[in-house]
Amino acid sequence: MRLSAKMKKGLNDQIVLEASASSSYLAMASWCEITGYQGGAAYFYAQSDEERMHMLKIVHYINSMGVPAVIPAVKAPSSSYKSLEGMLKAALKSEQAVTRAIHALVEIAQKEKDHSTAVFLEWFVNEQVQEETKFEAILQKFDLLGRDKLAINEIDKTLAGSIQQEPA
Ligand code: FEO
Repeated sequence: MRLSAKMKKGLNDQIVLEASASSSYLAMASWCEITGYQGGAAYFYAQSDEERMHMLKIVHYINSMGVPAVIPAVKAPSSSYKSLEGMLKAALKSEQAVTRAIHALVEIAQKEKDHSTAVFLEWFVNEQVQEETKFEAILQKFDLLGRDKLAINEIDKTLAGSIQQEPA
């Protein structure tokens, strides 16, 4: 079993995306914490850990294929947001970008008949469906409940309730 040069690069690029997501969610958590959104803070601290776990999965996979994974430097994320809703929209947008990247990797794996990587990526394909759905559902709440202070407080509480431990 070998990884092609293209697949190696694709997987290493995915490490960058997952590391960036972890760092960006950490910044979102911190912004929530200082702004008084306790639910959002708890949610995004957990989400940041999850993204780190995604990154580690890929690191372990590349290493298990006998290729040293490249641990990247990560650009500083945005650290301030105008609103909870704006921040959640940014999170959804970043998940959509991650989904596109995962799908592109799946296409490479299929084209190259790299079955091990295709199977490895299946977990990520499912995970992305869950993550996008989660953010869409939370964002929908702004239309359902409104955007006044009480509604935002309610949505913040919902965020705390949507933390879920995912099986590794
Ligand atoms: Fe690991 Fe949410 O992308």
